[in-house]
Amino acid sequence: MKKLNITLVALLALASVSAQANVANAEKLVSIYSAVAKHDNPDYAGPTAAEGKFFFNRKIKLGNGKEMACASCHTANPADEGKHAITGKAIRPLSPVVNAKRFEDFDKVQEKFTQHCKDIIGSDCTAAEKANYITYLLTEKTPTAKK
Ligand code: HEC
Repeated sequence: MKKLNITLVALLALASVSAQANVANAEKLVSIYSAVAKHDNPDYAGPTAAEGKFFFNRKIKLGNGKEMACASCHTANPADEGKHAITGKAIRPLSPVVNAKRFEDFDKVQEKFTQHCKDIIGSDCTAAEKANYITYLLTEKTPTAKK
């Protein structure tokens, strides 16, 4: 099957966005990844936040026997600041609703997805997984209250 040129599609889509770029970009990315998922599988029913949440928290056994999830670094609440599970370094919140810098640069998003999905899952995530993931992040708007 012919692969969609996702970068080109994305650039065309993102070119028209300006103000509120973070959330609007994230929403565009969801539609782009959904379109690719639909292209790959005509029965694809669209992204859901519930599947994205499951994916985000799902622990996977790594080659070294340790278990890790996206949440291991990005925390269980993507509206919160994360903490790198290995280096301990702070990570700005992933949710584009609270962090305007997220999903700004499509190339960076693609690169991070590929890199982190390979680290954790062992291969790149599918377009359907990415669409679910961002759909879920968009629902996380409230940082956990500080104790
Ligand atoms: C070992 C720690 C760690 C784990 C586990 C991890 N990440 Fe990340 N993630 C990071 C760091 C560090 C950054 C970059 C920090 C920054 O840009 O502020 C990041 C950034 C990202 C970004 C970039 C968003 C943007 O536009 O800036 C995406 C997308 C992402 N991660 C997806 C994932 C996914 C999907 C998983 C699970 C499969 C995952 N991450 C697991 C540490 C991690």
